[in-house]
Amino acid sequence: MNFDKSCPVPIPPLLNDPEIELYTDEPVFDPDIHLSMTEPDFIVLRDGFQHVPKAPQLCQPVAANGDSQLAYTGPFRLLSDEGYRVLRMILEREMAHRQCDDRHPAMIRLSGYRSKWIQDFNRCPRILEHLSNLTGDIRLLPTTLQSSYSHVNIGYAGGPNIDSYHCDSVPYVLILLACDMTNTVGGELQLIERDPKDALNLIEQYKGQVPNEYIRTIDYLGQNSCVFMQGSRIVHRVKGIHSCTEPRITVVNSYMSTNPFAAESTRYDTFRHEKPAALEYTLHKTWRANAKILDLAVGGHGWPTNDQVIERLSMAIDELSQCRDILTNTTSDKIGYYDEKKQKMAYYDTPAVALKDTEN
Ligand SMILES: [Fe+2]
Repeated sequence: MNFDKSCPVPIPPLLNDPEIELYTDEPVFDPDIHLSMTEPDFIVLRDGFQHVPKAPQLCQPVAANGDSQLAYTGPFRLLSDEGYRVLRMILEREMAHRQCDDRHPAMIRLSGYRSKWIQDFNRCPRILEHLSNLTGDIRLLPTTLQSSYSHVNIGYAGGPNIDSYHCDSVPYVLILLACDMTNTVGGELQLIERDPKDALNLIEQYKGQVPNEYIRTIDYLGQNSCVFMQGSRIVHRVKGIHSCTEPRITVVNSYMSTNPFAAESTRYDTFRHEKPAALEYTLHKTWRANAKILDLAVGGHGWPTNDQVIERLSMAIDELSQCRDILTNTTSDKIGYYDEKKQKMAYYDTPAVALKDTEN
């Protein structure tokens, strides 16, 4: 029984942490004012990394495990000039929350708990529809991990790689360039156009210095342009900056398929040091469990037999058992990243720490 793509599945809930102030001094997100969406000139499919003008519109994902045909898109725009102005204004305020960990020299997390505009930007149905159309085979929802709403990466001149080689811990990402890189040397987003396993083998073989012939460098269309990619299935990194007149800033929104049978590529381990991780991940797993049963009930399959109900119930129980096992450390979903200094895979051993105003 295949997942019925038209099955109405609920959008993950929006959480409110009473200990985090939700700023009110910002405009209300208005898609009529804040969006001006364009189509990319090309789409790159995972199959042979071929460039096509548009992804074929398919009834079902190409892969039985729910993976999309999409590798990544060419650059396009989502926000209008006014939307971009508001985003930049919010980012300025959010700079007070910069932090770093072993993988990221500077980043901002949890903006999705501080900004209503960011919440609405990440959950906007028009954006979801636009990005879903770009995939050609997947309907998208915002990630259940609200901490990852509009994750921000920041790069300063002379620093290490802005992000190490990794696959994302959420299925799909929209990366918006929120700065002017006209005078920037370095800071390129680079993808390895190989299956993730082969890409990681190449990284180990070349100790992080993968030859250019395997690498695709992404060209943005200048500030306020975006690319969309199935980041959980493509190994990528962001190089350090040699020189620049302003920091490199990218805003990363995360998405998942409405298909609860899609191979699980939302990870707990990557975020486990953050306060909201356990609750967010549990909500993610209960969303999957619920959506699997909903598909049976309202997915257009006809009335199920008792055996079919029991089968789905078992699937739902498996999701929850897996969640408990991951949270209790009985098992792990860690994927880590490649540490170029240590020349080996590294994991998230220590929590992120705040960056002081004087740093960078
Ligand atoms: Fe990434």
